[in-house]
Amino acid sequence: MSNFSQLFTETKISTLKLRNRLVVAPMTRVSATPNGIPTEIMREHYEDYAKGGWGLIITEGTYIDEQYSQGYRNQPGIANKRHIDSWRKIVEAVHETNTPIFLQLIHAGGLIQENIYNKYAIAPSKTELLGKMLPHYYGEGKFPIPMEITKHQILETIKNFSSAAKNAMEAGFDGVEIHGANGYLLDQFLTLFSNQRDDEYGGNIENRIRFHCEVLESILDTVKGKIPVGMRISQTKVNNFEYEWPGGEQDAAFIFKKMKSIGPNYLHISTHKGLEPVWQTENNLSFYAKKYFEGKVIACGGLHVPEKAENLLKNKEADLAAVGKGAIANPNLPKDIQLGRSINEFVPEMIRPLATIENTRNWRKSSI
Ligand SMILES: Cc1cc2nc3c(=O)[nH]c(=O)nc-3n(C[C@H](O)[C@H](O)[C@H](O)COP(=O)(O)O)c2cc1C
Repeated sequence: MSNFSQLFTETKISTLKLRNRLVVAPMTRVSATPNGIPTEIMREHYEDYAKGGWGLIITEGTYIDEQYSQGYRNQPGIANKRHIDSWRKIVEAVHETNTPIFLQLIHAGGLIQENIYNKYAIAPSKTELLGKMLPHYYGEGKFPIPMEITKHQILETIKNFSSAAKNAMEAGFDGVEIHGANGYLLDQFLTLFSNQRDDEYGGNIENRIRFHCEVLESILDTVKGKIPVGMRISQTKVNNFEYEWPGGEQDAAFIFKKMKSIGPNYLHISTHKGLEPVWQTENNLSFYAKKYFEGKVIACGGLHVPEKAENLLKNKEADLAAVGKGAIANPNLPKDIQLGRSINEFVPEMIRPLATIENTRNWRKSSI
């Protein structure tokens, strides 16, 4: 039996009980049909995590509408009845083990590598985005320059987020997470290099976090306490691992207090380089989320190392630990930790040449 008493203590998000504090982080696996319908292999994939003993599973980013939100080929959607019906099968399979599952809602904004509904992307400003498309998601070369999102489209996108949350409830999900992180549409508003607007959505931090707030308020209003709603936030991005909020702790205080005033059921802090100290202080971003948000915080980034996750919880820098790449390498991580089994290291080949579930399975078959 393990000594990881923090990780294996029950907790709650809103009224939802979780058996432990280990969470499967949202991970895009480009394994739906071309028009976003979740597939049988996805059901097996989420079922594997459910059997692995996780306290909570958060799905891959799932696009919210049939307009501009889809970012990747074979990314799943939650925008129509076929999406809902196919997700329901996955939810039911996961529920067989009494494991809760939340749907992550994404709008890719300018970071589009393929969108079957539209030829161009929308983003806060018509400006070239940093970085390159990701080959393991079928992308190649620079991101095309997006169109500037209009006020009308902003309002429409907020409505689409709410409809998607309603669809998630209809599919039986236990909660939804808004993807406000990692460089996608919401985070493009928060980020200086992608937001050059001079209206109420650009400029100072209050304006740049407005879109997050409006999406969150609208979803909270739609689900009216029926399921928990979380918000994922980061400094780093898939197209820039180094970015930090220009105002450092002052920005963090503003963002997290603002979130507190609106009242999501949790914040989810993600980083691409592991949970390292930020702004030349001694503390990581999750510590600041706890300090200013004061509610439930999930932290993510290098937490497959159980000692690290346990310490984070012990030090009250987070309430739950989400695991990304370590979960791909160890779908049974919670059981492995409890039984003292060795933990596999993640290697990029597990999601190369493509990040599909099939690719990971083939890699496992040939390597283990
Ligand atoms: C293949 C892959 C796909 C990912 N897709 C998503 C996603 O859909 N939504 C999201 O918020 N983060 C996504 N991430 C980021 C992870 O959730 C996590 O924040 C990141 O991998 C850092 O955690 P780790 O060190 O435990 O891997 C993805 C990461 C990987 C490796």
